[in-house]
Order: sequence, then structure tokens, then C-alpha cells
Amino acid sequence: MSLLRIQDLAITAGDLSLVDGVTLDVNPGEVVALVGESGSGKSLTALSIMGLLTEGLERQEGQIVFDGKDLAAMPDAQLQDLRGADLAMIFQEPVSSLNPLLSVGEQVAESLIVHGRANPDTARQSAIDMLARVGIPDPTRRAQQLPTELSGGMCQRVMIAAALISQPRLLIADEPTTALDVTIQAQILALMGKLAAEAGTAILLITHDMGVVAELADRVCVMYGGRVVEQGPVTQLFATPLHPYTRMLLQTIPRLDDPPKRELFAIRGNVPSPRDWPEGCRFRNRCDRASDACRTRPELDGTTRRVACFHPAEVPA
Ligand SMILES: Nc1ncnc2c1ncn2[C@@H]1O[C@H](COP(=O)(O)OP(=O)(O)O)[C@@H](O)[C@H]1O
Ligand SMILES: [Mg+2]
Repeated sequence: MSLLRIQDLAITAGDLSLVDGVTLDVNPGEVVALVGESGSGKSLTALSIMGLLTEGLERQEGQIVFDGKDLAAMPDAQLQDLRGADLAMIFQEPVSSLNPLLSVGEQVAESLIVHGRANPDTARQSAIDMLARVGIPDPTRRAQQLPTELSGGMCQRVMIAAALISQPRLLIADEPTTALDVTIQAQILALMGKLAAEAGTAILLITHDMGVVAELADRVCVMYGGRVVEQGPVTQLFATPLHPYTRMLLQTIPRLDDPPKRELFAIRGNVPSPRDWPEGCRFRNRCDRASDACRTRPELDGTTRRVACFHPAEVPA
């Protein structure tokens, strides 16, 4: 059974449709990458799982089932119990997501204490152990410092420690390293993947970096314009991308044999703002395969491999 099942999720802001018909499963222990350019609805999807949509945003329909329980039907107190224990999230900005007034040790220990999993002394020691495991040198001393005394990279490691200390069943990581130097991004993500695997934690990894997806993900879900356009196992999706948008995304990966300083391939145009998404397929005004058929909405078809397109690339027999 899926650990997380999202079915036909729709989110609006007033009369604007921001997310529409998102369907996605995460199995226990699995790493699922949610990819797509900025503005495609990845963060809104993640926030609605956590029950953290801000004022003005509304979930219209759909189901989010975690561990067999419908999260929308769950009383706030019970959802709060889940958050930080079975369900944890890491945000993009390490420094602003940490409490500036609390030592990093206390913040890492917090979920153990709040959820009654350890007494303060044991929790403090577990936090120091966890800080060591995420690669923070001199963790006993560091645990007593405030986030502002640590670098951005160290704060991101603290966030990972805080999220993983309670061994959650699912970790949602929303572009967890984009604020960091590229040279340490991959290293920190690999560490997050390793610790999660050891604890049996599944990850929903949000990223626009297809290189990271290739490294860490088991399955991939591609979003565009608030909808899922394609999903499937990572090896298949990379070998035979079916949706024209997925094909474009894959061309953005820099290759080792590229000549140095070659300009990175950029996708023609940008994701238009939700007011300007066309009727039917939302990608059609940037797509070189678009036809009249695309004025109607394509459904997400298939089972293991799914694609929402009237003109997908042919799958080799
Ligand atoms: N509170 C809001 N009100 C109106 N539009 C919003 C709001 N939050 C996000 N959006 C819009 O919804 C779309 C999807 O946003 P988001 O989920 O943050 O995309 P991603 O994480 O893929 O970059 C974007 O066009 C964004 O501008
Ligand atoms: Mg985002």
C-alpha cells in the first residue's frame, strides 16, 4: 500500500486554478522526485500535504491519504501530531526556517520532546549524535550555538538533522539546497538520501535539478502549469521521456563531455503566470508538437508510466 497517495488535488486562489488534478503516490522507503520549472505548482502541492497552505489558497477537491488516513478529514490536533513525527518537511531557506532565538541543539531535539519520544536529557544527547551524523564538526559545542553563528550549509545540515531525528515515515524536501553553494549541494543531498535510507524514510524530493533526480530518485513526477504531465520510474523516464516537456527538461542537464562555458540549454520562454495558462494542454503554447487536439485537456494515462499528452514520443517496442 502507498504511504502517501494524492488523488486529483486541486488548489485555487480566488478564481485562479493553481494546481489541478495532481495525482501522485509515494511508497514506503521510496524516493520520488517532483520536478518542473519554477511556478509549476510543486511547493503548493507539498504545502497542502503538510496542511500548511496560506490564507487565500484553497483546496477544492482531491484526496491526500497518508498511511491510510485522509489528511483533509483529520482534526488539526492530530495533523499536528503527525507533523514533525511521521511527516517532516525541509524548506528551501535554511536560515529563515530555523528559530533565531533557540540553540540548534534545542531545535534538533524539539520533535523528540514535543512528541514525547524522549526526556530532555536523552533528547539533548540524541541531538548531538544526530548533528555529528549530518557532518557537523564539534557537535557538542555547536549544539549550544544559535543558527546565526553557523554558515548556510551548516544550517541546512541542522534542518536535515531536525527533520530526520524522529525517523519520520515521509520527508518532504522542497528544494532543500538551492540556497547553498553548488559544490556542497550534491554532497548534502546525498547525505540526506543516505540517512533517510538507513531509517527507512520515504522522500518526496522537490527539485528542478535533473542531475539530482538521476542520482537519488526511484520514481519521477513531472509537473507543468499546476498539472502532472508525466510520471514513471527514473531509468525509464530518462531513457524514453514521453512528454515533450520532459524531453526539454532533460536537455537542461549539463553533460560531462560538454565544452566548458557552453551556455546551458534554456527552455524556450518561461512558465506563464496562472492567468495566462492556455485552455486544454497548458504546455501547448511552448510545445513544438502542439496541434488542434491540444485545445482539449489531455488526461494522465497509463499505469507504471503515465503521460498526459496527445502527441507523446513513441515508446520503442
Ligand atoms: N498565495 C498565492 N496566491 C496566488 N498565486 C500563488 C500563491 N502562491 C503561489 N501562487 C502561484 O502558484 C503557482 C505555483 O506556485 P508554486 O507551487 O510555488 O510553484 P513551484 O514551487 O513549482 O515553483 C505560481 O504561479 C505562483 O505564483
Ligand atoms: Mg517552489
